Amino acid sequence: MILEVSEIHAYYGLAHVLHGVSLRVDQGEVVALLGRNGAGKSTTLKAIMGIVPPRSGRVTFKGTNITGWPPHRIARLGIGYVPETRDIFSYLTAQENLLIAYNQRSRWTPETITELFPKLAELRDRRGRNLSGGEQQMLAIARALLTGPELLLLDEPSQGLAPIVVSSILEAVKRLKEQGLSMLLVEQNFDLAVELADRVYLIDHGQIVFEGAVQDLLARPELAARYLGVTV
Ligand SMILES: Nc1ncnc2c1ncn2[C@@H]1O[C@H](COP(=O)(O)OP(=O)(O)O)[C@@H](O)[C@H]1O
Ligand SMILES: [Mg+2]
Repeated sequence: MILEVSEIHAYYGLAHVLHGVSLRVDQGEVVALLGRNGAGKSTTLKAIMGIVPPRSGRVTFKGTNITGWPPHRIARLGIGYVPETRDIFSYLTAQENLLIAYNQRSRWTPETITELFPKLAELRDRRGRNLSGGEQQMLAIARALLTGPELLLLDEPSQGLAPIVVSSILEAVKRLKEQGLSMLLVEQNFDLAVELADRVYLIDHGQIVFEGAVQDLLARPELAARYLGVTV
């Protein structure tokens, strides 16, 4: 097991948002966390990263209890995070965005990352603010990989992107999976999540309401209808 989240509770001020969330990611596994808007998906990733530190419960990464650690230490230990806001530096070029994140320990480099995202090679001198949403998403994933993660947290990578762009992101994430990278993927795009994931968790009102293999979820269409509003 690479990541274990046990019974975490998280708050924004007085608002109690996560009510005892538990999940795990095994080595080399792609796990999807699915749920409606406001269910607590992004907060779960922020709690793992220490951005919204859990008030109780425990987060263990590679056997180390990282609960309460600041985000930069968690990142340095090997968790890459791609937030839904992407957070590209708008005045830096694509290449500078990559260089600023690069850790020599990473198995990707600013050069080899373009094998995964060929488009980035053409865009290297373009400033972040002049990149399209899809280009920013590719850059955000590339940048997270250059930090040298053993686990990648992806928050809705397909959000707001045209289908053609979504398919190139899907291809890249599939290749990362083939390379053995462990991932925790938050998605609203059910089909994409089902195509990528080995296992799925459904979250609703800050609580995990289903855990199982993708096949188990597909065999119970009433769950997708109830918790995701989609027809399988
Ligand atoms: N910064 C914040 N301050 C206060 N409440 C927040 C904040 N971010 C999210 N929330 C609330 O926490 C709940 C879970 O949000 P979030 O984890 O972003 O959901 P999801 O990613 O599943 O759409 C929602 O009710 C949302 O309104
Ligand atoms: Mg979210």
